[in-house]
Amino acid sequence: MKAENSVILLKLGGGLLTDKNKPFSIREDIVKSAVNQIIDANEKIILIHGGGSFGHPLAKKYNVFDGIDKSIPNQIFGVVETHHSMIRFNSYLIEQFLEMNYPVLSIQTSSIFIKKLNKISLESLDVLETALDLKIMPVLYGDVLFDKKGSFSILSGDEIILKLCESLKSYSISKVVFAMESDGLFKADELGGNNCKLLTECYSSELDDLILADLGQKIDVTGGITSKLAHIKKICKQKIPVQLINGLTEGYIYKSLRNQKINCTNILINE
Ligand code: IPE
Repeated sequence: MKAENSVILLKLGGGLLTDKNKPFSIREDIVKSAVNQIIDANEKIILIHGGGSFGHPLAKKYNVFDGIDKSIPNQIFGVVETHHSMIRFNSYLIEQFLEMNYPVLSIQTSSIFIKKLNKISLESLDVLETALDLKIMPVLYGDVLFDKKGSFSILSGDEIILKLCESLKSYSISKVVFAMESDGLFKADELGGNNCKLLTECYSSELDDLILADLGQKIDVTGGITSKLAHIKKICKQKIPVQLINGLTEGYIYKSLRNQKINCTNILINE
């Protein structure tokens, strides 16, 4: 595989790009800064973004995550409304790139992923890989996930990333970056107090023994930091390093994409 066939997977968390407590609110300055840093970094990237206040409140209102439930009024309408809300948010992000003349292509998550026999299946990578070949940055997002048995749930950006790590063949993934609104993973205070410490470096083999600090979380239908750690473990099984960075710190997204040193959590792969 040629060096140019290497790609970085970058997730911009919904909590970073939006105000999770205020439905349909975009943190415009943060989005703009993230877009500029991605463009400046000039690397081959697949961008994945979360739902934040465009996804979680609606998904929660209609209990989309847990699948079909006839006792919930208008649930089916709620499913398409959740999906469309994500499209609106995604379109905003896409437009920011296009305004800067940067080629990006939105790939509709719910059209390429489906649940079959209780397993998430990624049906085709052809569009995504061809876009990369054409130097177009594919953009995916957390979305509703249809289930062939006649139901649905939510597919998070983290699950999309894991699936891409397991499935991408014609590109090798050099690292996965999660840009969030905290500096990374925090270890629980060993003495049981409130002093938690940023985990700056850790080998994937040490993840099982890691006890994370519980920093509390806002509405998150896809599981918060505990579920993120479970996904990270699976990503590392694919021998792909993971970095968790603070997307609110100016320049960190750029520096991460350019492999410059930053204060964050680095999860390294054991040889
Ligand atoms: C959630 O995606 C998508 C919906 C709720 C529709 P994520 O779980 O990746 O979103 P964030 O990053 O936590 O906001």
